[in-house]
Amino acid sequence: MKIAVLPGDGIGPEVTREAISVLESVGIADLTLFDGDVGGIAYKRHGHPLPAETLTMAREADAILFGAVGDPDCDGLERSLRPEQAILGLRKELDLFANLRPAKVYKGLEHLSPLNPEIASTLDLLIVRELTGDVYFGDKGERIAEDGGREGWDMMSYSETEVRRIARVAFRAARSGDCRVCSVDKANVLETSQVWRDTVKGAADSHPDIDLSHMYVDNAAMQVISNPSQFGVILTGNLFGDILSDLASAAVGSIGLLASASLGDRQTAYGTFGLYEPIHGSAPDIAGQGKANPMACILSAAMMLRHSFEMEAEAARIEAAVERALADGIRGGDLGGDHGTEAVGAAVRERL
Ligand code: NAD
Ligand code: IPM
Ligand code: MN
Repeated sequence: MKIAVLPGDGIGPEVTREAISVLESVGIADLTLFDGDVGGIAYKRHGHPLPAETLTMAREADAILFGAVGDPDCDGLERSLRPEQAILGLRKELDLFANLRPAKVYKGLEHLSPLNPEIASTLDLLIVRELTGDVYFGDKGERIAEDGGREGWDMMSYSETEVRRIARVAFRAARSGDCRVCSVDKANVLETSQVWRDTVKGAADSHPDIDLSHMYVDNAAMQVISNPSQFGVILTGNLFGDILSDLASAAVGSIGLLASASLGDRQTAYGTFGLYEPIHGSAPDIAGQGKANPMACILSAAMMLRHSFEMEAEAARIEAAVERALADGIRGGDLGGDHGTEAVGAAVRERL
């Protein structure tokens, strides 16, 4: 089983190191790891954030463990050379159109959430975010406005085909819960969202067991915080999913706890090909200080075992060890504690 490990920038290498060490402690035979450069570090070494050899390695792997990309030194580069293009390029090139971002408040750990504990305890949802379309991948550019100043523009669009395939992922995911799907859009303003909403409704016709509702994104942001129990699966587009998932992470307690899986249709000999990454970024403000919470990356590795290697028992063991560590008071600085990256990793391994 081949895993391409792409640590990237900032805290990426710090958190992936712990996740790999947890994977190794689970005792899986036949695991081969390949390391590749992505992001700012790849630009500095190879002149491109997603070098051809890294893309080839990713394609040839059965799964990818991704840390984070982003480097303030690179923010002035032309867009195609910026570190973030590495993750966007991987998602697009590998057709990883379905991003699963689970968020839940663990029992007994409601106090980690800034929400009132009675509300926090009901938060257990899955964001199914479309990942290869929307305003992220439309034409974009800059032009001179009529008043002579600069004007930036980005084209937002969704085709029925794109919406239908992500809707199906959400419906399937909802079946392992209570079949509730809330599709989040901005159909009161955007044509893109009107096509989204109509297509999701149409797709639901052949899934009569699904309890489908629709909500505007501004209201959804408010409802996730004020009444999270109404959500099972949130189905949404690329931009809204990006924003709502950081919002959900804050409601859980920290962005250092939220994992993700990015999946497409391709099957390998072991399961579904996918890329796994924490939802957080390279956190330049704490990079190199050994402070980053590796739990999100460790939980992403668990998702990898579940989806790409069909090792449900091992995935559940890792998730239980993280939960146990949290229950035992192991906390990174993001959760108000003083456990560093390595200490958190060690605490999880001890509890496997
Ligand atoms: P960020 O997620 O990197 O950081 C936001 C805040 O959360 C910071 O205060 C940071 O210290 C904290 N934080 C994040 N992860 C943490 C962890 N594991 N443990 C403890 N604290 C943590 O978002 P940002 O500051 O907006 O972006 C920084 C860079 O990362 C930018 O270049 C951005 O483009 C990039 N980014 C990359 C990805 C990715 O690679 N998938 C995701 C988001 C942002
Ligand atoms: C994420 C990140 C990325 C995104 C950036 C780094 C391109 O914020 O994975 O949530 O916007 O998708
Ligand atoms: Mn994001």
